[in-house]
Amino acid sequence: MPAMNLVLQVWRQRNRSDAGRFERYEAKDISEHMSFLEMLDVVNEMLIAKGEDAIAFDHDCREGICGTCSLVINGVPHGPKRATTTCQLHMRSFHDGDEITIEPFRAAAFPVLRDLCVDRSAFDRIIQAGGYVSIRTGSARDANEIPISKENAELAMDAAQCIGCGACVAACPNASASLFTAAKIAHLSLLPQGQPEREERARKMVAQMDAEGFGHCTNHAECEAACPKEISIENIARMNRDFLRAMTSARQPLASRETE
Ligand code: SF4
Ligand code: FES
Repeated sequence: MPAMNLVLQVWRQRNRSDAGRFERYEAKDISEHMSFLEMLDVVNEMLIAKGEDAIAFDHDCREGICGTCSLVINGVPHGPKRATTTCQLHMRSFHDGDEITIEPFRAAAFPVLRDLCVDRSAFDRIIQAGGYVSIRTGSARDANEIPISKENAELAMDAAQCIGCGACVAACPNASASLFTAAKIAHLSLLPQGQPEREERARKMVAQMDAEGFGHCTNHAECEAACPKEISIENIARMNRDFLRAMTSARQPLASRETE
C-alpha cells in the first residue's frame, strides 16, 4: 500500500488545570508498517521542526508488555484492534484519508498531566494496599514442588497477564477499576501462596480502589472488551466473593478453604 495521509484531531492540554482542546494536525507519508506511536513520532518531528510543542504521550517498551502506552483512538481505548495495545497497533488498521481522533484515558481518578498523558499512580497505590505476598514462600524450587491444579494454574496465569494499562477504566462508563484490581487479586488468590492473606488483600485493595475515586462495577463488561490482555470479568466475580468473605465470614482459617 502506498504511504497514507491522515488528519489527526489530538487532545492538547498544557497541564492539569488547563481546560484542553482538540487540535488538527496532518500526518503525511505514513507507512502502513509504522506503529501508531511511530506515526505520532513523525508528527512530533514535524511539530518540533516548526518550533511547536511536541504532543506528549506515554510509552516505554513498545512491545505490548509494560502497560505504559494508553490513548483513546476514535473513542476506543487502545484503538480498534482487539487484544492489542496502542504500541502494537499498526497503521495498516487505518486507511488513506482517515480522520483519527486521539484522546487521553478519561477518568476522574486518572487526571490529565499533559496532552495524552494521565496520572495512573492510583493503580500503584491499589497494589501497595495488598497486591503482594508478604509470607515466606521459599525458593523457586519450593514453589515448583507445591501441587497446583492445572485449571487454577491457568486461571492465575491468565489474571497475571494484566499489564496495568488502565484501558479497563477508560472503557467503563463508571470509570471503575474493578477489572484491574480483580486481576491483581485473582492471580494471587488462585494459588496456595496467596491464601494466608487472601481476604485481607481483597478488603484492602477494594477499599483503596474506592478511596481513589474509581466508580463501581455495574456489569457493562466494556472493560473486558477493551482489555489488551483479554482479562476476563470472571475475575471481578472472584474479587467480589473474596471481599464478601472478608466482610462477613466467620473467622475460620483461610488456608483450610478451597482456592476457588
Ligand atoms: S485489566 Fe486489562 S485493561 Fe485493565 S489494566 Fe489490566 S491489562 Fe489493562
Ligand atoms: S509501550 Fe509498553 S505496552 Fe505499550
